[in-house]
Amino acid sequence: MSGRRKTQLIKPRIREILSRELPEGLVELLPKHWVQIGDVLILPLRPELEPYKGRIAEVYAQVIGVKTVLRKGRISGEFRETNYEVLYGGDTVTVHVENRIKYKLDVARIMFSPANVKERVRMAKVAKPGELVVDMFAGIGHLSLPMAVHGGARVIAIEKSPYTFQFLVENIELNRVQDRMTAYNMDNRDFPGENIADRILMGYVVTTHEFIPKALQIAKDEAVIHYHNTVPERLMPAEPFETFRRIAREHGYEAEKLNELIIKRYAPGVWHVVVDVRVFKN
Ligand SMILES: C[S@@+](CC[C@H](N)C(=O)[O-])C[C@H]1O[C@@H](n2cnc3c(N)ncnc32)[C@H](O)[C@@H]1O
Repeated sequence: MSGRRKTQLIKPRIREILSRELPEGLVELLPKHWVQIGDVLILPLRPELEPYKGRIAEVYAQVIGVKTVLRKGRISGEFRETNYEVLYGGDTVTVHVENRIKYKLDVARIMFSPANVKERVRMAKVAKPGELVVDMFAGIGHLSLPMAVHGGARVIAIEKSPYTFQFLVENIELNRVQDRMTAYNMDNRDFPGENIADRILMGYVVTTHEFIPKALQIAKDEAVIHYHNTVPERLMPAEPFETFRRIAREHGYEAEKLNELIIKRYAPGVWHVVVDVRVFKN
């Protein structure tokens, strides 16, 4: 199943069952879209439906065929953890298959954004066989598993959260790329490798610029960096590349913008973007 947001008519069976059980008018408020990650469903629910949320979740679970239903929360904190309310079931660990890659994760605690699907698919295509990729914010391997599995790249994946790291290690095995992908459970600022990477993934937001000096230390004299950050709309399109180039120059590197893409809206007036940058040591 795809984790993409599905905007669709409520399945007739859900409507049929719940129209017999809910008070007049409430059937119209039932969620028409949801996100499915493996066999876990994330359901947005209007406050008017609060008293019936358990039963509603049960019916969605049974008709759609999932084991657990969560109510949408917010992603926050250094480890980008989500807060969810369990509406039905309880087991939130699942295996989500996307682009022939198996991602095992705990949906209640680890971010897996349907809106990032294009970027995960794009990363499978940009990596080249044999090149060394360092993923500085690996998560469960969201962006670097596609590079190892489909691109044939060698990957060093660094993840700070011990909980997320367990899934990263399992995913490397599940996708049978142990021969070319190695995981480190540490803060990327403590990673000792220097001048080793052909390509670097910086899949983080808000404070990613603080990690540019470390990325340059890990990069070879010439490398490509996929630099993500969040940017207020009024500073686009100059940012975030301007800041990247300024910091790169301060560290003896020239930077060239190869490509820039919007990933998604992050907050009102703020966008999550990715810039592909080629860096050269001066
Ligand atoms: C938002 S997730 C992104 C996953 C993936 N890169 C993507 O873009 O889909 C960022 C991950 O970076 C990890 N992280 C945050 N700070 C870190 C650091 N200093 N060193 C290593 N990992 C870090 C978090 O625990 C989290 O799992």
